[in-house]
Amino acid sequence: MAHEQVQGLLQFLKESPTAFHAVESICSRLTGFEPLQENARWRLQTGGRYYVTRNRSSVIAFTVPQRGFAPFQLIASHTDSPTFRIKENAELTVRDKYVQLDVERYGGMILNTWLDRPLSVAGRLAVRSQDGVRSLLVNLDEDSAVIPNVAIHMNREINTGYKYNPAADMMPLWSGGDGKGSFRARIAQAAGVAEGDIIGSDLYLYNRMPGCVWGGEGEYLSAGRLDDLECAYASLQALLTAADGAHINICCVFDNEEVGSGTKQGADSTFLSDVLRRITLSLGHDEADYMAALPRSFMLSADNAHATHPNHPELSDPVNQVYMNEGVVIKFNANQKYTTDGVSEAVFHAICQHADVPVQHFANRSDMPGGSTLGNISGGHVSVNTLDIGLAQLAMHSSYETAGTKDVDYMIRAMRAFYETEIDCLRDGDYQLTFRA
Ligand code: CO
Repeated sequence: MAHEQVQGLLQFLKESPTAFHAVESICSRLTGFEPLQENARWRLQTGGRYYVTRNRSSVIAFTVPQRGFAPFQLIASHTDSPTFRIKENAELTVRDKYVQLDVERYGGMILNTWLDRPLSVAGRLAVRSQDGVRSLLVNLDEDSAVIPNVAIHMNREINTGYKYNPAADMMPLWSGGDGKGSFRARIAQAAGVAEGDIIGSDLYLYNRMPGCVWGGEGEYLSAGRLDDLECAYASLQALLTAADGAHINICCVFDNEEVGSGTKQGADSTFLSDVLRRITLSLGHDEADYMAALPRSFMLSADNAHATHPNHPELSDPVNQVYMNEGVVIKFNANQKYTTDGVSEAVFHAICQHADVPVQHFANRSDMPGGSTLGNISGGHVSVNTLDIGLAQLAMHSSYETAGTKDVDYMIRAMRAFYETEIDCLRDGDYQLTFRA
């Protein structure tokens, strides 16, 4: 089973070079779920399964229990990963001998992990249609470009703390001088549209290196975009395989976490609150029912965590350090960059114990600020009891990250158990947990 889950994850990663493709991969797996449009009225049924996308880069899927309207049990993760966006005028010519792509950074990546490896291009095109504009996805899906290092003989500082300049060092080489004008033509050809009809685009680079399983015992997997598609994949698998719950189970995968979530489709938008309100109203309930459902609702904010590094164990907290293949990570931060508190931890811990899934506790070393994630941002719009979880991984924001193979199954089981547990808030701070499987 664990092996199957890892292969499933690697296939999902391969199909998801960008946030747009991740949403398409998720939707293609939502068999038996009815697509909803935000621009139409919803008529939901008890026992129904639905999904809705925004910008085709964020998606919310949910299941309505047979008993109808109920509190919400949510898992949130993100579709995007640090990468390079290709600018609108894509081609740069160097001494008439080279054509490079003009790119800028999306999110905070480890720059040198993008060098000297085959890259490709994928994203979304907006093309002229008979009556306006239509959007479609494109993926060159071939070795298309490389960002070459400067030889050590020409840069003796490369191993002693060289500072990469994104405007100078990170331009991918696309073709020789004869390839001028070929980039848009190649994109149009791959998308099956006329070059002149492409009037807008959101194109990104991605690492072409396929994911792999490795280690003496096959205990590790490496691939691009594990942060956060590993959690997205696990939450999707959990939603698909969970027995019918007592509450409304919701799987949200948001775009733009890596750039602060502040877009119309990000966690800092109305997307989630709009969907929850519309579920409430469409099931014949009102704003007062919605307000009463929120304190009875519960959210897991799922985003990967930093495993203790083999070369630098001292960078982790001396006690609250986590390891790959040792279970789901519960993340803590005194300043509430992570939303976990003692009560939300306890609720989740009890569910994991019931599911026989190990958990471990993570906090940053006290002199390191660490990153932020979805939970506290989403909480500004939909304030439900939340905790931050993830899986331990190495090299976060590298173009090729590493995680533990056992953990994929641990996370899917923990998330499935979460969806199958009826979490009821009796009074502020007291919970009753009914395990339904
Ligand atoms: Co992340």
